[in-house]
Amino acid sequence: MVTKRSSVSKTIGILTAGGDCPGLNAAIRGVCRAAHDRYGMKIYGFSDGFRGMIEENVRVLNPADFSGILTRGGTILGASREKPFKSAIGDADEIIGDKVAAIKKTYSKLGLDCLVLLGGNGTNTTGYRFAREGLNIIGLPKTIDNDIVGTDRTFGFHSALSIGTEAIDRLHSTAQSHSRVMVIELMGHKAGWLALYAGVAGGGDVILIPEIPYDIQAIGRHIEERALSGKIFSIVVVAEGALSIKEAKMDKRDRKKYRAANGPSVAYRVAREIQDETGRETRASVLGYMQRGGIPSASDRVLATSLATAAVDLLAKGEYGRMVCLSGNEINSVDLSVPEGKVKTVPEDHYMIDTAAAVGTCMGV
Ligand code: F6P
Repeated sequence: MVTKRSSVSKTIGILTAGGDCPGLNAAIRGVCRAAHDRYGMKIYGFSDGFRGMIEENVRVLNPADFSGILTRGGTILGASREKPFKSAIGDADEIIGDKVAAIKKTYSKLGLDCLVLLGGNGTNTTGYRFAREGLNIIGLPKTIDNDIVGTDRTFGFHSALSIGTEAIDRLHSTAQSHSRVMVIELMGHKAGWLALYAGVAGGGDVILIPEIPYDIQAIGRHIEERALSGKIFSIVVVAEGALSIKEAKMDKRDRKKYRAANGPSVAYRVAREIQDETGRETRASVLGYMQRGGIPSASDRVLATSLATAAVDLLAKGEYGRMVCLSGNEINSVDLSVPEGKVKTVPEDHYMIDTAAAVGTCMGV
């Protein structure tokens, strides 16, 4: 067993970018503990994602900074959706160039040997681009959406799944009391992992995910069949990016217009469509940011810590340009080009879709 190795005297930077999720602090602690205690590295923590690198908002992280944070939600470093390679306003090549240059400047000014990025698809894609610009990068996969290509699971997902499942559990009693249809919206713009897993865990009667455009008549029939068999209420779990067959056929502009005219989010659209289709009283709930808040589950703490310490082992060996990952039961790593520019959606033939169908859940078709 190795408890403390000889110092490799590296200097590293760490930041958390994109939306936050439970487990980020566990990962920060894992990186810092392993880097500091095991390898004697110096660690710089950047505030608010890439913005901290652009603005040189940085501090040295000492043991007191990363002590007692394992169970805390959010990120002690702060996060932002700053995307250095993308302009917020149209044609701004100069501004983009400035941001990339500022980040590279900060990197060399601080004498970093490696930058550790805790982020989702966008962050790991940015990491790959910086790796191509010559920076040493290691990525860690975080997000409640579980949609990063190259890892079997992201940290944050399991905690959000528990929160989503509890919300579905709680809806059952009020749905039953009022003989209502309850629509609950969970996060997931492009990928329906969270809605699918929480829907199965919570016994949703209908689950709608972006990967399977729904047919409102099929949903109506399912709800009516339940009613005929004496089940006077139904729970519909919908991913925020779910869409109807009708919407799937629209071009982007028409879809945007249609959505703007039909309620604040998909849960409201679906609730209205169900009420119109079945005549049954239907209500919408949006779980929103509660899914990203609060303490990480035990499973996310373990995953975040394992990925974090593996990331430090990699960088100690000088193996850069990689994202650590979970593959099966093993912690491993992939080249940063693997997640770059991609989203891991639910495959049509994923076993969970069949599992849902096998227990009588309607997948919207
Ligand atoms: O990044 C994951 C996510 O949770 C998505 O599911 C959601 O659409 C998005 O964040 C919203 O985050 P924000 O409002 O912070 O940009």
